This record gives sequence, structure tokens and C-alpha cells, in this order.
Amino acid sequence: MRITVLDHPLAAHYLTTLRDRNTEPAIFRPIAHKLTTLLAIEATRNLRVEHQSIQTPMESTVGALISECAVAVPILRAGLGMLEAFVELLPDVSVGYVGLERNHETAIASAYYSKLPPDLGGRATFVLDPMLATGGSAANAIDKLKDAGADRIVMVCIVAAPEGVTLLNDLHPDVRIISAALDRQLNPVKYIMPGLGDFGDRLYGT
Ligand code: PRP
Ligand code: URA
Repeated sequence: MRITVLDHPLAAHYLTTLRDRNTEPAIFRPIAHKLTTLLAIEATRNLRVEHQSIQTPMESTVGALISECAVAVPILRAGLGMLEAFVELLPDVSVGYVGLERNHETAIASAYYSKLPPDLGGRATFVLDPMLATGGSAANAIDKLKDAGADRIVMVCIVAAPEGVTLLNDLHPDVRIISAALDRQLNPVKYIMPGLGDFGDRLYGT
């Protein structure tokens, strides 16, 4: 199974707070933001840089500056809770949106919205969705992004299930997956165990 799982005490602390059923939206939101910042630092590891000569107050040296305009694509609605952290780190990031909703009986995701930047080829593209359960939503969004020309996609999530990781590894072997956790399994109604429940409901208090 190909996935990068964050291994950091801060990530573990934030994740545990999100998992706790007693965490209310007022705390859930800023903690999701902080955890996504840690994920974003790992996800952006391969961004392109340009080396430039600069003068420090002491002497000249060669530094590195980000030289590409990345793309972030939150999957509505829960992925919106991860967007701001990427915008903070990458202020000129282009943002696309994919709206997907799982059917409560079948757990199959259907699309209700899509708005993507026109020029995706060659750009680092971060798909943001906190929960990778069956992987159906992520695979659907990645299909749309590839149809639109994206070819450097990273999937960023907070909790992943082995079932979803396996599906994405099979359907999209070129897509790197970064998560704060790889959980045990899905339950019979396709929720992640131990998971954290319905991320969108907990984020938005619905
Ligand atoms: C949740 C979650 C993912 C999807 C994961 O969204 O945010 O998008 O389920 O499940 P999957 O891997 O089995 O497809 P949901 O459909 O509940 O919509 P929401 O974000 O609007 O709450
Ligand atoms: N979506 C969620 O929000 N939670 C799960 O456990 C599975 C899908």
C-alpha cells in the first residue's frame, strides 16, 4: 500500500482532538486547519524552486524561491475545511472546486459541481478531502482533474482507510497520497474505523 502517513507528535495531538467525539465545531475547525498545515508542508515537498542570488546584510548567497503556481482542489464540502491552510502557505495558489456527495445507502459518490482552473498541465495539484473511505470520491475527482489536464496530483487527507488507499493505488498509481492516519478498516456502511465520524457534519455542525 503506497501512502505517506505523517509521523509527528503535533499531528498526533491534533488528530486525537479531531477524533474525540466531544470536540465541538468551534475547536474542530481551527484544529483541522492546523493539522492541514502540517500535511501541506509534507505535500509541497516537491514544489519546483528557482535558485537565486541575493544579498544578506552580511554577504551574497544563493537561495531558493518557489517558482510555480500550484493548484488546490477541495472536494466539497468537507475539503473546504482544509483549503485555508494551503492558501496561507501558497498565497498565489489557484483554487478549483469539485462537489461530490456520497449516497447514504450505497456510499457511491455523485458529482454536483465542478469548476477547475483551465491550465492544469505540469502544475502541482493538491486534492483536499479529509476522509478517504472507499476512495470513490477521490477517484472521481482525480478522473475529472486528469480529464482537465492535471498530471502532477497529490491527494491530501486526514484519515485514510486501507480500502480507499488500495483503490487509488490501483486506479491512479501516479498519485501520491499523504494522510495524518491510516485507519483499520471501513464498517458495513462504509465509515472509517476508528475514524472520526462524518467530517463534514462535525466541521459544519450539521
Ligand atoms: C465524505 C468525505 C469524502 C467522502 C469519502 O463526503 O468528505 O468526500 O465522504 O468517502 P468515499 O471515499 O467513500 O467516497 P460526503 O459525501 O459525506 O459529503 P460532505 O463532504 O458534503 O459531507
Ligand atoms: N466520510 C466521512 O466523513 N467519514 C467517514 O468515516 C467516511 C466518509
